[in-house]
Amino acid sequence: MIIDLTNPDLFNPIYLPLLTDKNRYLLLYGGRDSAKSYFAAQKVIIDTMSKSYSRFILVRKIYADIRDSQFQTIKDIIADYGLQDYFHFTVNPLKIVFKPNGNMILARGLDKEYKTKSIKDPTGVWYEEMNEISFDDFLKTTTSLRGGVIQEIATFNPEKESDWINSYFFPPKQNYESEDGKFYYVPSIRSDTTILHTTYRDNKYCTQQSVELLESFKEADENYYKIYSLGLWGGELKGLIYKNWEIIEKVPEEVQFVAYGMDFGFSNHPTAVVKVYVEEKIIYIEEVIYEKGLTNYKIGNKLKDVKIENDEIIADSAEPKSIEELYQMGINIHPAFKGSDSVRVGINKIKEYKLKVTSSSRNIIRELKHYKWKMDRNGNSLNEPVKMFDHALDALRYVVLNKMSIRKKRRFGLRILKI
Ligand SMILES: Nc1ncnc2c1ncn2[C@@H]1O[C@H](COP(=O)(O)OP(=O)(O)OP(=O)(O)O)[C@@H](O)[C@H]1O
Ligand SMILES: [Mg+2]
Repeated sequence: MIIDLTNPDLFNPIYLPLLTDKNRYLLLYGGRDSAKSYFAAQKVIIDTMSKSYSRFILVRKIYADIRDSQFQTIKDIIADYGLQDYFHFTVNPLKIVFKPNGNMILARGLDKEYKTKSIKDPTGVWYEEMNEISFDDFLKTTTSLRGGVIQEIATFNPEKESDWINSYFFPPKQNYESEDGKFYYVPSIRSDTTILHTTYRDNKYCTQQSVELLESFKEADENYYKIYSLGLWGGELKGLIYKNWEIIEKVPEEVQFVAYGMDFGFSNHPTAVVKVYVEEKIIYIEEVIYEKGLTNYKIGNKLKDVKIENDEIIADSAEPKSIEELYQMGINIHPAFKGSDSVRVGINKIKEYKLKVTSSSRNIIRELKHYKWKMDRNGNSLNEPVKMFDHALDALRYVVLNKMSIRKKRRFGLRILKI
């Protein structure tokens, strides 16, 4: 079988030299949507298919996150190349086998569940979102890989300058960072490391919608613009919207269920469904769905799988067609009434409560840690959220605005709201 590495349609050219780079550590970092993960997946697939022996491990902080990220990306690329008949995929545990030579791609999370399961004779690792992984976990993993030629690929956004990745691999930033984000190779302070910096401008497949969002950060938020648009090391986050929250193991039995909230997404954003409970001045939230690429039909089936039954779902009214389709599948779904200034009103309402989020709601936790106000150049809050890390939190807002505010006696006379 031949994969033509010179076919310009398959690759972003900036990454091509890394296909043959033999350094132990390949760090792919930079802004959002720069094709870091996509390229890492391509490299893992090519190694798996071309080497006589290859065993890659997909690593993330949380095992359960691997399925929707690295595993799915690899699966999608294999399908795009029309090679799915040559591979065998299993989900429990996550495993991909290339049938002609038996090479495998396996997965390991650094959470308690799977940490101890060791994998025999790996040849490579791909750490996705390496900035979520602690130095300790990285050291344990990298020192456990012995024998033969090992390659460790890392993909991440440079969210915090104080990160261990920076001090372990990178020289002082004045030696290589260019303020406009236009620079590529960074000379690592380690001899066995290649560092490639990229931004969305290096990804010819970046959608217009993503380009616009990333460019809008210039006005919206200096720190976000630095990190996600230019791929420069960021400072501490300022202007967080929700600060009064904590992680709990389980929602207590006695608290009252309010409703489910839902925000629609598809290719660039996840569809988010959250379950909301209340007890006096505490809101409890649980993640139910947080996934990209779901059609309405799939959403409907997932909702049935989690036995939502007749419980009410309050969904983003900007998608009346989706709401109608889900309603016709038997889901008790209604559009959220938004009203004027509903974003700020909703946020203020939520802030009257303490938020408690279950520990398995990983994406909600991630949003809570990052959801923030736009800031002007002087660091003053502009009272408008940055449109990022807001999917599950928007879903929560729909519930709070529609079911917990003074207007809660509002009738859902019309299923389809025209706005
Ligand atoms: N070689 C390619 N062929 C087709 N599509 C591509 C290719 N490279 C990247 N893309 C598309 O570009 C988009 C962004 O790529 P990717 O998710 O790899 O970015 P990233 O740098 O990992 O972003 P983030 O920092 O948000 O994790 C994806 O939707 C992907 O499908
Ligand atoms: Mg990525």
